[in-house]
Amino acid sequence: MSIHIGAKADAIAEVILLPGDPLRAQFIAEHFLEYPTRYNTVRNMFGFTGTYKGKRISVQGTGMGIPSISIYINELFRDYGVQKALRIGTAGSIQPEVKIRDVILAQSASTDSNINNIRFNGRNFAPTASFGLLNTAYGIAQTKGVTVHVGGIVSSDSFYPEDPEEWKLWARFGCLAIEMECAELYTLAAKYKREALTLLTVSDSIVTAEATSAEERQKTFNFMVELALETACSA
Ligand code: HPA
Repeated sequence: MSIHIGAKADAIAEVILLPGDPLRAQFIAEHFLEYPTRYNTVRNMFGFTGTYKGKRISVQGTGMGIPSISIYINELFRDYGVQKALRIGTAGSIQPEVKIRDVILAQSASTDSNINNIRFNGRNFAPTASFGLLNTAYGIAQTKGVTVHVGGIVSSDSFYPEDPEEWKLWARFGCLAIEMECAELYTLAAKYKREALTLLTVSDSIVTAEATSAEERQKTFNFMVELALETACSA
C-alpha cells in the first residue's frame, strides 16, 4: 500500500496504461483486458490489472494536471516497481495540420508548470519520451496504415489560461498540441530510470475551435488504447 494506491505490493504489473479519467481505466479493463481485477478504489482513482494477449498489464487513472499525475507516478515507480508507463490522453491541437481525431506520439514536453523550475533550482530539464517505446508505437501505427504525428507537445497548468492567445507562442516553436500531464511523466521516468510514452488523441483544435463529439472521441480513443496495448506487449 502507498498513500494514494491501496494495492498489495505485487498487484500492479510492470507495464501500465495511464488514462486521466478513472472511468476510462475501468472501460479499458472491461473491454480490452482479460481477467481484470480492481486493485485500487482510494479516492475512486480506479486501477486494474489483467492480461492482454497473455501479457500482464495494469491500467490506472491519474486525474488531471501535473500535481495529480505526479502523485500516482511517484508511487507507481517508487513503491510498485512499474517499469513502463504509457499515458493515454486527449489534447488540443495548436497546428493546422494536426486535425481533430488525429493521434500524436509526444516526443518531448515543454511546460508552463513551475514544478521543474523548483526541482532543478531554476535550470531547465528537457522531458523526453523513451525512444524504445516511441519507436515501437510508431512502427505499429505504420503497419496499421494509420498516420500519427510525432513531435513536441506542451503540458500546461491552465486549461483556462488568462491569455487566450498564449498557445500561439508554443505553436511558433513547432509544438503540436496542449495537454496537462506529460512533462511530469517524462521527468519522473528519467528520475527513476524507467520508460515512458504519451499517446494523445486530438479532442479539439485550439486553432479552429472545432471539437469532437463523444462518439468520435470513443472511436479514436479505442484505436489509441489498442496502439498503447500493442506497444506495451512488444516493447
Ligand atoms: N488544453 C489543455 N488540455 C487539453 C486541451 C486543451 O485545450 N484539450 C484537451 N486536453
